[in-house]
Amino acid sequence: LVTPIANRHVGLIGFMGAGKSTVGAEVAARLARPFLDVDAELERELGVPVAQVFAERGEAAFRELEEELTVEALADREPAVLALGGGAVGSERNRMALRERALAVWLDVAVEDAWARAAGPGRPLAQDEGAFRALYEQRHSLYRAAADARARDADGVVLAAGGVHVDQGALDLLAELVPGKGPAALVSDARVAGIHGAAAQLALGERLASTHELPAGEAAKTIAACEALWRELRLDRRGVVVALGGGCTTDAAGFAAATYLRGVAWAPVPTTLVGQVDAAIGGKTGINLPDAKNLVGAFHWPSRTVVDPALLETLPADERAAGMSEVVKTGLLAGEPLWELPAPELVRRCAAYKTAVCLRDPLDRAERAQLNLGHTFAHALEAAGGYERVSHGRAVALGLQAALRLSGLEDDVVRRVLGPKPVRVDRERAWEALLRDKKAAGGKVRLVLLERPGSPRVGVEMPEQEVRRALDELIAR
Ligand SMILES: NC(=O)c1ccc[n+]([C@@H]2O[C@H](COP(=O)([O-])OP(=O)(O)OC[C@H]3O[C@@H](n4cnc5c(N)ncnc54)[C@H](O)[C@@H]3O)[C@@H](O)[C@H]2O)c1
Repeated sequence: LVTPIANRHVGLIGFMGAGKSTVGAEVAARLARPFLDVDAELERELGVPVAQVFAERGEAAFRELEEELTVEALADREPAVLALGGGAVGSERNRMALRERALAVWLDVAVEDAWARAAGPGRPLAQDEGAFRALYEQRHSLYRAAADARARDADGVVLAAGGVHVDQGALDLLAELVPGKGPAALVSDARVAGIHGAAAQLALGERLASTHELPAGEAAKTIAACEALWRELRLDRRGVVVALGGGCTTDAAGFAAATYLRGVAWAPVPTTLVGQVDAAIGGKTGINLPDAKNLVGAFHWPSRTVVDPALLETLPADERAAGMSEVVKTGLLAGEPLWELPAPELVRRCAAYKTAVCLRDPLDRAERAQLNLGHTFAHALEAAGGYERVSHGRAVALGLQAALRLSGLEDDVVRRVLGPKPVRVDRERAWEALLRDKKAAGGKVRLVLLERPGSPRVGVEMPEQEVRRALDELIAR
């Protein structure tokens, strides 16, 4: 498991007025890392504003001081989020240190917005609009050359930090978006291959080495399907597995990539809403055992996740509904009505939320558990229905209802947006299944609940009767 920012800083570069300080502080909070604003630090150390350094000592002297501090900040071992000065990428020493020690994210801004924000006496290079625009043009190519990724806001920076690229039409740029130059093995199920396979093949162009088919749905997540794929793959260590499809395809192909040759790179291209906001993000890959889902797997962070919301246009309504349950879950965790956003932005915001949680806890040892909100109940209902009668989406919707009620919160969002009907399953079987989860967790029913929307609590112990009552309410009489 190697996240793109493991032992690396997130280095924000970009023009003055792009918002590096504000966005940097927000990203640092979301990644639970320290934040350092190099210009602000310089002012603090010198005890005078940047404008005064410019006026009294000249720009060249300022650049020298800036370079010292930038190189020093980048050399610090503790991975942080750093906002670099607008002109920092002008120095070769800074650029080298940036390449070595950071994932460089270019925070881009339109020149009009930059001027509106930056113009004023505090910025010596934002005095004359003509000169400002000329400098903007000149710096553009420097930022482009130094950047590993480009972003417009904090969500964009978080996504870049996780190697997640979200954009309408991203599929067409697959060959450039999948890092490296090595050959690609394209894996999908027959249905997805029939709809989006040709476009993916065309986009991979000369990098396409082979195509492979997995069975649709959970049948992909078996050792037999995995073995068939291992046997077909002809990649060397430079190769990359590109998994085009829903969560079943990306879970299984990702696991094959994690294990083939003891691990080759992989790039999921999720085609379902579940995949785009959840399954393809965070590096969990795996397959099922006959009576236990996701029991065998590996953490294997993708070298790039390519999310193209346009691919959802062909998604059947029931699959979209399944994804909306995860969207509502994410919105409740984030404390924002993300489910109200139009599709591309909804995907981007949800994907960014999950990316941040997984970057903070890549091995699922602590707070990543929050992503299980509603899922303890969902698993119990699915198990009681023999994994056939109750769809995962509906089970999660009902599970969210139970989690909200046990949190003492209104469940109207779930009813309005997802409208799940109680399911017809055996109550005893459902309760037994929930208790089986309990055994795994050390003899106590531990749940993910919400203090309030935006404030999840993991590992909350609840009395058994209350949990049982909440479960019973989800089952039709
Ligand atoms: N790894 C993780 O972190 C994680 C997180 C959540 C869920 N999951 C896993 O994801 C799986 C569920 O994934 P899913 O809901 O995406 O289901 P899925 O992969 O089974 O896909 C659903 C169906 O939709 C079809 N399909 C996919 N994209 C389409 C498109 N664009 N147009 C038309 N049809 C399309 C597929 O052929 C398939 O039949 C589960 O196995 C679950 O365990 C994993």
